Amino acid sequence: MSYKTVVIFVVALIVSSCEDGPGAVYGEPFEAVIAQFGEALPVEPPLSYESKAPRYIQKDVRNGQAIDDKRATLGRVLFYDKSLSDNGTIACASCHQQAHGFSDTAQRSIGLNGEVTSRHSMRLVNNRFAIEQRMFWDERALDLEDQVLQPIKDHIEMGFSGSNGQPGINVLLQKLQALPYYKELFAWTFDGDSTVTAGKIALALTDFVHSIESFDAKFDDGFTNLAALNQPFQNFTAQENQGKALFLTPPSLNINGVRTGGGAGCAGCHQPPEFDIDPNSLNNGVDHVAGDPSSADFTNTRSPSLREVIGPNGDPNGPMMHTGDFIELTTVIEHYNEVIPDVNNLNLDQRLKRGPNTLKLELTTQEREALEAFVKTLTGSTVYTDQRWSSPF
Ligand code: HEC
Ligand code: HEC
Repeated sequence: MSYKTVVIFVVALIVSSCEDGPGAVYGEPFEAVIAQFGEALPVEPPLSYESKAPRYIQKDVRNGQAIDDKRATLGRVLFYDKSLSDNGTIACASCHQQAHGFSDTAQRSIGLNGEVTSRHSMRLVNNRFAIEQRMFWDERALDLEDQVLQPIKDHIEMGFSGSNGQPGINVLLQKLQALPYYKELFAWTFDGDSTVTAGKIALALTDFVHSIESFDAKFDDGFTNLAALNQPFQNFTAQENQGKALFLTPPSLNINGVRTGGGAGCAGCHQPPEFDIDPNSLNNGVDHVAGDPSSADFTNTRSPSLREVIGPNGDPNGPMMHTGDFIELTTVIEHYNEVIPDVNNLNLDQRLKRGPNTLKLELTTQEREALEAFVKTLTGSTVYTDQRWSSPF
């Protein structure tokens, strides 16, 4: 045998041993996937998760890296699969519901053993289109990939904590490995390698969450053909345009912090056109632990994008802020009209005070209603029903 023949022979041997190795998929490539999901989960080809973000959307925590359709498809299955909780009762989607902008209508969400989470669930719409990489209300996760495994390991949420009698994440990996549809989906997504790993779960969930986007709001229709955000939008009512101006314009204040002109300055922290949180935002004066008004928690400095804070029926997509204390937009605006922080809150953002005084925006009823009307223009419709983000089960 010549040297070349040996090399070809060895390579062929390696390839064939890979095919027959522990990662191999037998039978029809999608036998189990078809049996489990049928037409609810297209795989040949998968649904397209290509972003339709308009040109004026410039912020992107992925730096333009496209969503991988296969990863997002696998992520969709994982997101809706109750197998990801120790007792099989809770999926990501239990607390992040498509019908409510991927948040929860409960003030605090119920985890696998009936215990409640310490904060309100967060909307996941347009998570990708932001500057701030850090996740959670208090920004304790470095980025989404770091975040997505945390609920699985959380003792209240999904229960693979590996402590206090709960199993560790390896038990979950074995459990998923034993499900035939995951064997096929992991092999399909990761170049034939059907091994279930925590890293691959994180990649798939990240692409799925990053794919959830909404750009069909009245705001988008208005902004599409305009050069400047601060020009009146032609499709807006006079009230909505007034609300927009109030949202965008910072207040002019006297030395006591009383507003003498200008707007409410919301855009300083909720930055249009993405309405993502300014990474430098500090606390906004909602400074107690959810469910305990007498306690203190100054750590919360992040908000989900304000897009879809209101649902398509005009009601909020669940109670607002990390405490879930704010049922109506009216109460939110009342809060900002005069923020009254806890006496020990040194983390209150400078934009909400002047020297030792907190701001008094003294918004008139008419101005408050205009602000509300504007926030309602940030709501679209397709994200609530699009098959790509719906349950395949
Ligand atoms: C039991 C309810 C529950 C489950 C299950 C759950 N979450 Fe959450 N999620 C929450 C709550 C509550 C928060 C806010 C927690 C905080 O800030 O402390 C949150 C926050 C997040 C965030 C941060 C969003 C942001 O803008 O910072 C992401 C992303 C997320 N969850 C994704 C997931 C994924 C993916 C899963 C499944 C693997 C999941 N969640 C499972 C309740 C839940
Ligand atoms: C100094 C920065 C800052 C300013 C100015 C600001 N916000 Fe916020 N906003 C935040 C932070 C931080 C949060 C999350 C706070 C929390 O839950 O603890 C938040 C939360 C919210 C929420 C709830 C989001 C959700 O998903 O529950 C709404 C609605 C909101 N802000 C509207 C407004 C409006 C309207 C204005 C102007 C009147 C405004 N904000 C001004 C920083 C700011």
